[in-house]
Amino acid sequence: MLPTLAELRPWHDPSTTAIHRLPMRARPAMTGDRALPLDGDWSFRLFASPEVVPSDVVDVDAPSGQWRSIVVPGSWPVQDVGDKPHYTNIQMPFSEPPPHLPEHNPTGVYRREFEVPPNWTRERVALHIGAADSVHAVYLNGTFVGYGTDARLASEYDVSHVVQAGVNVLAVVVIRYSAQSFVEDQDGWWLAGLHRSVRLESRPAVAIADIDARADFDPGSCQGALDLRVTVDHGGLGPVPEGYTVRAHVRGNVAETKQAPVPHDPTRTYEFSGHITRLGWEGLEVQPWSAETPYLYDAVAELVDPDGAVVDETTVRIGFRRVEIDGASLLVNGRRVWIFGVNRHDHDPDRGAAVDVDAMRADLIEMRRMNINAVRTSHYPNDPAFYDLCDELGFYVLDEANIESHAYNWYLCGDVRYRATWLERGARMVARDRNHPCVIQWSLGNESGYGVNHDALAGWIRRADPSRPLHYEDAIRFSGWADGGRHGTDVVCPMYPSIEEIRQYSEQVVAGRADRPLIMCEYSHAMGNSNGSLADYWDVISASPGLQGGYIWEWKDHGLRQVLDDGSIRLAYGGQFGDTPHDANFVADGIVSADREPHPAAAEIAWVYRPVVTELVRGGLQITNRRQFADLDDLVPHWELAVDGVTVESGDLEVGRIAPGICHDVPLPSKMPDGPGRVHLNVTWRLRTATWFAESGHLMAWDQMELREGRPGPPIDPVVRVPIRPDAVDEAVPNVWRGATDNDGLKLLEEIVRVREMGSPTLIRWRDAGIDVKPADQVVRHSSTVERQAEAVEVRHVFEVPDSAADLPRVGVLMRVDPRFDRLRWLGRGPHENYSDRDRSAHWGIWSGPIEDSPYLVPQEFGLRTETDWIELVDDSSGEFLRFSTLEERFSWSATRYSPQALFAAANDSDLAADDRIVLCLDAAHRGLGTGACGPDVLERYRISPGRYDLTYRIEMFESDDGRGVDKSVTER
Ligand code: GAL
Ligand code: MG
Repeated sequence: MLPTLAELRPWHDPSTTAIHRLPMRARPAMTGDRALPLDGDWSFRLFASPEVVPSDVVDVDAPSGQWRSIVVPGSWPVQDVGDKPHYTNIQMPFSEPPPHLPEHNPTGVYRREFEVPPNWTRERVALHIGAADSVHAVYLNGTFVGYGTDARLASEYDVSHVVQAGVNVLAVVVIRYSAQSFVEDQDGWWLAGLHRSVRLESRPAVAIADIDARADFDPGSCQGALDLRVTVDHGGLGPVPEGYTVRAHVRGNVAETKQAPVPHDPTRTYEFSGHITRLGWEGLEVQPWSAETPYLYDAVAELVDPDGAVVDETTVRIGFRRVEIDGASLLVNGRRVWIFGVNRHDHDPDRGAAVDVDAMRADLIEMRRMNINAVRTSHYPNDPAFYDLCDELGFYVLDEANIESHAYNWYLCGDVRYRATWLERGARMVARDRNHPCVIQWSLGNESGYGVNHDALAGWIRRADPSRPLHYEDAIRFSGWADGGRHGTDVVCPMYPSIEEIRQYSEQVVAGRADRPLIMCEYSHAMGNSNGSLADYWDVISASPGLQGGYIWEWKDHGLRQVLDDGSIRLAYGGQFGDTPHDANFVADGIVSADREPHPAAAEIAWVYRPVVTELVRGGLQITNRRQFADLDDLVPHWELAVDGVTVESGDLEVGRIAPGICHDVPLPSKMPDGPGRVHLNVTWRLRTATWFAESGHLMAWDQMELREGRPGPPIDPVVRVPIRPDAVDEAVPNVWRGATDNDGLKLLEEIVRVREMGSPTLIRWRDAGIDVKPADQVVRHSSTVERQAEAVEVRHVFEVPDSAADLPRVGVLMRVDPRFDRLRWLGRGPHENYSDRDRSAHWGIWSGPIEDSPYLVPQEFGLRTETDWIELVDDSSGEFLRFSTLEERFSWSATRYSPQALFAAANDSDLAADDRIVLCLDAAHRGLGTGACGPDVLERYRISPGRYDLTYRIEMFESDDGRGVDKSVTER
């Protein structure tokens, strides 16, 4: 033996991607008595670096020391082992340049025993490590078995030569940082450990090593075709013996049984092309797979030995479908589908990167409730179970290689030392996921510049799988959307472009100067109170050739549950574990919280992504089915005619069958009512029956059409007005401040924002002008008149916003109200939180609800409702209520337990200080939200321009809420 090999430190060497690792395969896992799961409790010890791990820790007899128990799969920094989570975005968590590593490099040793039945040792035994972050080395019964990299793909090793019948001792050493970490620099927590399942498999000596099932659907003939390539191996023992055949069929009489020999003779130089048996079928009568119609079939392949015995068998779930790009459109089965997408990371607030099937399914359920139909697996291949679910439930998947060298993005993509890792990461993803119909595109990774390593990978994938277009954002970033980076990407996939930029791209498509579909890989950054102008994006996308949608950033906040010294619990973000350097709450930018609670913007997303659009066109209704493969028969359309928010007439809408992709006109269901008032037609589409993602009646689509503008008066009540109690409401003070949103500016990262131009500069401008601390009447000119009547007060405010103060957070007043008035009812937009640039899903009507809690991890402005005529605050125990109704223009308002100052002062939801009164803000104007934390700030038309603003209202108090009947007209969603 060459003794020096033992001194190798592969984790320092970027070009060593694996030692003794088996080829990646798409073949499904072995099951039944050929599988031995190794998940559960393991013994664990943590060392300060791989250099100080004593060699005997992997011996058969465990050396003494502080072993503790740890759960596999799991991330060790969330298992209290003395090494904390660390969050960074672009920067690396340590300062050494690639490929150098910090001296302190926590290294975990995992140990456990297992027993295998005696019959296992007569065939082949393989060890499957689902994923180890960042690199790992495996020892079985004290013998080195292999080494693997890529924290988001499995590594498998043939352990037949060391496994023994009875008790075995397995040790896996996992190193937190390696030369590979520089290409795993995604924006997220650094979470070391064995975070996906570990198992053993017994495999036949001669076995089906892999199966490549290419299922195609021809939209012209409506027929399927299947090209099956079955690779057979002899467990690394030499050529496959003569006489083996592969027999295959598709269950349900879909494709008849075919059988062909396994090429066996590698000495036939020039002719031999591997132990690969190819079987093909054409003209199959099948239902095509799509995200709307996820039809799946079982392809069964058997390996038959020379005596006719079946020695191995595997079943692959396949879906017949074709993805292609044609005329700046991405087509699925010949149809241009909308990409109603979202980016999803693997994240669990308690388990870190370890996410089980139930959690994945729960994500997909919640996504479909928001009409999301596509997922980008940002920024790495997910657990195989995720793709099974997407096949089954119907999601398009943009499958992304685990490559992100963000801190060194223009360096490593051209560095030969990293060439192998680029190729391995992309090629192994394709090798694993190629049979999944859900995967419609391959992504070369994220934010790694664009260099020769990308082109090498692109070339490999194009040849290995010509059936799917490529995606890579940095390929078009600097070289122009119309023609840039063609080898690296087949789609134009920018991140966070402005609406104007994508509109201009469409003009180029129309002019014949661009020919690739534009699908934004990231847009509408959902950090905190966000997703402003989402509907404005879709106004342009829906109407512009070449624009096909995008993936919202991102699905979930990455808060990690943390127990503080005083026993209290919070969801923590970067820096809250003492981790430095860090990027604070930039890791909390999801549509849903870390606990999967939808943020208010979820309603806007569901609306924007709705499957059917109802519009007023030429005096009738135009109904557009945005699905491409399914009609709308699963939905029940219902209409309501409302005058001043009160339903006066309603019924089911008669629409007949509306075929996929079709616009259909129907007459208005009702006549315009006589008399005064604002008139709306509201149309809802609800699920006819329960489905996997929702109960029957779940609201899938809704539209509100204004038939007549009008000025509603206050409700006419059979209730008694009483003098306003002195303690009910304090005097209004002018107010121009809001608890800045993450999109106004990153309050926890102010220094970085100043130096690195991260996020929006708006907050800094406000702070430099003292908007957050000055009394509002030093920022704007304010005058008011108060007219006290016997049982009402009428107030008129006039604000003058000078040029120097343009683009304020808000212009209005703040009043503190007796906390017993804690139920709200209003005529305005609702029911959920809405802002001028995120209000399309929030329809105008009479709504009611409680005072809400702050929905965002980092406290900030929340809870606004716009376009309001009146709001009532009700004390349910006495029945008394206060009403604020406009005298002229509609206003925006929020009623919470937090002042703007308290929201701004708090860094985490857990330290938010509640006011002892209700904080009621009435605004003449309120800035939109935009997505300035990462992307365009608020559009000009949603900002507060200089000039005069009027806010008027009457305050009244009523004795009893009983018997008014107003609640009957409350349309709760
Ligand atoms: C993108 C990146 C994401 C995330 C996002 C900001 O640039 O691809 O990983 O960092 O910005 O939240
Ligand atoms: Mg990044």
